[in-house]
Amino acid sequence: MNTVHDIREMQRLADAHRAAGRRIGFVPTMGFLHDGHLSLITAAKAQCDVVVVSIFVNPTQFGAGEDLDRYPRDLARDAALAERAGCDTLFVPEEGAMYPPGYGTAVDCNGVASTLEGASRPGHFRGVTTVVAKLFNIVKPHVAVFGQKDAQQALILKKMSEELNFDVDLQIAPTVRESDGLAMSSRNAYLDASDRAAALSISRGLREAEAQYRNGERSADTLRRTVEHEMRLAGLTIDYVALVDARTLEEMEMLERPALLAVAARAGSTRLIDNVVLQER
Ligand code: PAJ
Repeated sequence: MNTVHDIREMQRLADAHRAAGRRIGFVPTMGFLHDGHLSLITAAKAQCDVVVVSIFVNPTQFGAGEDLDRYPRDLARDAALAERAGCDTLFVPEEGAMYPPGYGTAVDCNGVASTLEGASRPGHFRGVTTVVAKLFNIVKPHVAVFGQKDAQQALILKKMSEELNFDVDLQIAPTVRESDGLAMSSRNAYLDASDRAAALSISRGLREAEAQYRNGERSADTLRRTVEHEMRLAGLTIDYVALVDARTLEEMEMLERPALLAVAARAGSTRLIDNVVLQER
């Protein structure tokens, strides 16, 4: 595995792969890799000749007062994990090269970016779509793999990619969880033992709602309340518990179409998100 920092060098490498007929798989990340990230690398490797993993803590997707300054970083550990999972090139650009002085271009995705995370974190998705568009132009992937853990992000990036005609097959891979159910996240590193125990109520609540759904419950209100009850009992601060159309993210009252049950909450000062898709099998 090699590590590339320079944007031009990454583009030349991508050109060489393409000229040789090699399929490029791409997994964009902000680093501090866990098994969720590694599952995306494995998925990319299974269908591509080479896999590029980017590590870039993208400042434009963090709001004022968010955790940009303390976001966990460990490049040496990430490099070892990525290589073991099948990464061929680690792309680690400099912030000043990604956003040089005077930088002024952004990609905006309207509609699906205004609700849920978009409502709670103004400007967040603009930062995400902009950096991923830039990364697509640098890495030139045939396939890019994202995680269902960030369901709204995946949906928005799919829409961006289609609407801007990126020639990339954008895929969404399932959420990887700890054995007790907690969705893996780089931000779990912030949790102390009691916050972590409280955070477990999120996946527990989602599982309970899913079981209710399987037993025939179709009222969004009832399912939402099941999740909220678990989380309140554990002492989490709820940001939202939402039941929305899995494609459009419009609110639902009765679950007659595939629905996304999406949650954001704070355990101590750590903001966590999780979700489950409810649809008939
Ligand atoms: P990051 O949070 O590092 O996540 C990188 C990728 O890993 C995303 O596609 C995310 O959905 C996926 N992922 C995270 N946790 C996962 C889990 N438990 N199971 C499966 N996949 C998981 O998401 C970002 O970075 C950034 O917004 C980025 C897209 C890189 C743009 O800066």
